[in-house]
Amino acid sequence: MSIDSFIAGMPKAELHVHLEGTLEPAMLLQLAAKNGVELGFETEDDVWAAQDYPDPALPHFLDYHLKCVRVLQEPADFAAATKAFIETCAANNVRHVEIMFGPMAHTVRGVEFGPMFAAMERARSDACADTGVSALWIICIDREHTAEEAEAMLDAAEPYRHQITGLGLASYEEGNPPSKFEDAYRRAKDSGYRLTAHCDCDQRDSVEHIRQCLDVLGVERIDHGLHVLDDSGLSERVIADRIALTMCTTWRPSDPEPRRLRAVKTMLDADMLVSLNTDDPSEFASRHMTHMVAAVQRVGGYSDADMVAFARNAFVSSWADRGDVDGWLADLDAYADSASSSQS
Ligand code: ADE
Ligand code: ZN
Repeated sequence: MSIDSFIAGMPKAELHVHLEGTLEPAMLLQLAAKNGVELGFETEDDVWAAQDYPDPALPHFLDYHLKCVRVLQEPADFAAATKAFIETCAANNVRHVEIMFGPMAHTVRGVEFGPMFAAMERARSDACADTGVSALWIICIDREHTAEEAEAMLDAAEPYRHQITGLGLASYEEGNPPSKFEDAYRRAKDSGYRLTAHCDCDQRDSVEHIRQCLDVLGVERIDHGLHVLDDSGLSERVIADRIALTMCTTWRPSDPEPRRLRAVKTMLDADMLVSLNTDDPSEFASRHMTHMVAAVQRVGGYSDADMVAFARNAFVSSWADRGDVDGWLADLDAYADSASSSQS
């Protein structure tokens, strides 16, 4: 079996993907035209070209990302994005997805939280029923905002608390340490949210930020988390405490190969709960799960067993119901067995 077929057929889960990063160029342009948003590009080729900014550092990506999120204005826009993405998950054999969304980037522009989220949730529920994909929500603080604004976001989400599984922390990391949101995280934990937070790659104070996520915020997962590898004590801790690391082997058109390719294998071999995720699949050349994960196997030269182990880690560290997880793991094991026996 080819790598592409093997990865395409594998039951997968994704734990780190931003709804706002799933707007395919056609939808981006259509929403921009409908809502009168000036993006500075006209065609789908222009969109792909704009993603090839010369410096891959996080602020450059986020500047592009935040320019694009402005096309989402009406509740129906958020619903359309949700439906399209869950259908794409189905096409990628992603059985379970945990979708992050960042309301602050919308509410600052005058979008009302309630109608926005109600439309997203209706679209999620309908698309899950239609496709059989399981999906849940992670609401994210954009960390360049104040602690008070984060609390206001939690206030706005309160009526929908039962429909939102987790709290995350995203966006511009430098100068915005996890400890800034200690109160919001304490409150979220008390009201039953599961907790994760971004510790992005190549940030100033990365190791300290990971430490704060564990000690101050009390997270169960870290989004990215590459820099646990810089500190042996932290590495031992994430292994012992089964802290999940949702790595993203994304790349831009001009990157020679998947980024963090060797690091994810080092983490896997160290028995870390590391998974492979697309982050913003319509804003990177790495695209959606099957395409990205197949490239990781091909370029990294990794075994089928390694790829099954990444997928297993995603299911194991998901926040889905245990019974569902056990069912997906059984499907994954059966798939791995049948793929290996068809090879022998
Ligand atoms: N928001 C959307 N994508 C993000 C990423 N990769 N890192 C931080 N914040 C984000
Ligand atoms: Zn992310």
